[in-house]
Amino acid sequence: MRTPLLAGNWKMNGSTDLVEAFGRTFAETKLTKEVEVAIFPPFPYLESARRAFDSTPLRLGAQTLNPIHFGAHTGEVSGQMLCEFRVRYALVGHSERRQLYRESDDQVFDRLLAALTVGLTPVLCVGETLEERDAGRTMEVVMRQVGFVMSRLEPEQRTQVVIAYEPVWAIGTGRTATPEQAQGVMAAIRDYQASYSQELAEALRLLYGGSMNADNAAELLAQPDIDGGLVGGASLKVDDFVAICQSAG
Ligand code: 13P
Repeated sequence: MRTPLLAGNWKMNGSTDLVEAFGRTFAETKLTKEVEVAIFPPFPYLESARRAFDSTPLRLGAQTLNPIHFGAHTGEVSGQMLCEFRVRYALVGHSERRQLYRESDDQVFDRLLAALTVGLTPVLCVGETLEERDAGRTMEVVMRQVGFVMSRLEPEQRTQVVIAYEPVWAIGTGRTATPEQAQGVMAAIRDYQASYSQELAEALRLLYGGSMNADNAAELLAQPDIDGGLVGGASLKVDDFVAICQSAG
């Protein structure tokens, strides 16, 4: 049985006030179902979030990490540092990092490996652009992104990875993939994992991301291969995010 994971990726948004609001609200909110919830704030808020979330079920995630543990890398943050703030998860390969910061598959892999090395759970983000979808290349693109990473991991490492399918055309656009579209791609990702082992495929947690909100979450999360969400915009409004978390399970 896979525990649903609802992850709020704040991107370069948020504030100390928002951290406090999440801490207060989630301390009082009873989540009806067995779900895991994590917030991925910008780095400067990790310490205040660690404190504010202490008496809540909220876990912490990081939006990226540098593959190197320490050294002369101005502006970068390592996985080892993140662990000091009780961070559990790290996003790797988010489409904004792939596109805006030109992160290659090799770099995505290095970051994912660095996360595993320090004991963080990597959330590998994959997804096609609108152009690729329109050209009928969705499966090819997504499977290449998944395969690039998975084929380079040891069997034991594969069991540690969470995968988020985020169609690029659905991110921040208000245009959500239909439950059928998302389910189709996510079932294919699980099938790919089954080529390594059926057990791995059944345990793999797969998240959908792309304009998930309080209105469409339940239908998406009801799909057999959608085990949670990676939520951007709607994770900045505490009531909306609570509603999303309550629709999982
Ligand atoms: P939105 O929910 O704002 O579309 O963002 C999705 C996303 O990119 C989460 O990582």
